[in-house]
Amino acid sequence: MLIIGNWKVYVDSRTKAKALYATAKRLAAKGGVTLGVAPAFPYLALLAPTRPLKRAPHLVAQDVSITDTQAETGEVPARALKDLGVSHVIVGHSERRARGESDVIIAEKVRRVLAQGITPVLCVGETARDEDAQYLSQVRMQIHTIYGAIEVKQRSAMVLAYEPVWAIGTGKTITPSDLAEMILYIRKVLAELLPDDGAQRVVILYGGSVDASSVRVLADDTGIGGFLVGRASADSASFTALVNAASKLHA
Ligand code: PGA
Repeated sequence: MLIIGNWKVYVDSRTKAKALYATAKRLAAKGGVTLGVAPAFPYLALLAPTRPLKRAPHLVAQDVSITDTQAETGEVPARALKDLGVSHVIVGHSERRARGESDVIIAEKVRRVLAQGITPVLCVGETARDEDAQYLSQVRMQIHTIYGAIEVKQRSAMVLAYEPVWAIGTGKTITPSDLAEMILYIRKVLAELLPDDGAQRVVILYGGSVDASSVRVLADDTGIGGFLVGRASADSASFTALVNAASKLHA
């Protein structure tokens, strides 16, 4: 199971970043789950290990520039992330989409990330649930537009994060049966885009107000491969409780 802590803007001091990373390192060393931390850009450099560490948490970036060649003030190119040892990049988070990022832009970012040999963590998810199940078409469209723009042989190198927007930072979590149904649906859509049994092998994370107690119910028989955690990852105690809860599931 892969658990990525998306620190967003919650971690805004060196001291806090180092302390949280030390917690993640301790938890990662225990094994059982694979961990990643996604700090704000400046702290990636601060946390990057100077020598390879066995079972260290993956360094994850929260976003990336759409270009590495054109003049783009304030952006961070994929190559710089690679240079720092970043292994995953979150792309298409709903908080970026809310600032106008389209599926076309997201697909381009995914391409940049893949070109550097970094794993994109592509976020998809409906804004709201409706009785006519229109939300399914929204998710299908996101997946089709983005995967469709990526070379077939690179499509299996991506992690997918299903994050319903209505559940992010709201304290509302999806029910295990709704999640299980969604994962099945997503794999069905992926089967249209990946050859052979590729769709079955895609790691699908869930994100949206996940904490230690929801991890237990949501990981049980829903087919997910891990979690993308916001708020609960920015505090040592809540992240430890969450990771311990997830590790027990595999004990
Ligand atoms: P949350 O954020 O856990 O605070 O809801 C999840 C995310 O945005 O990835």
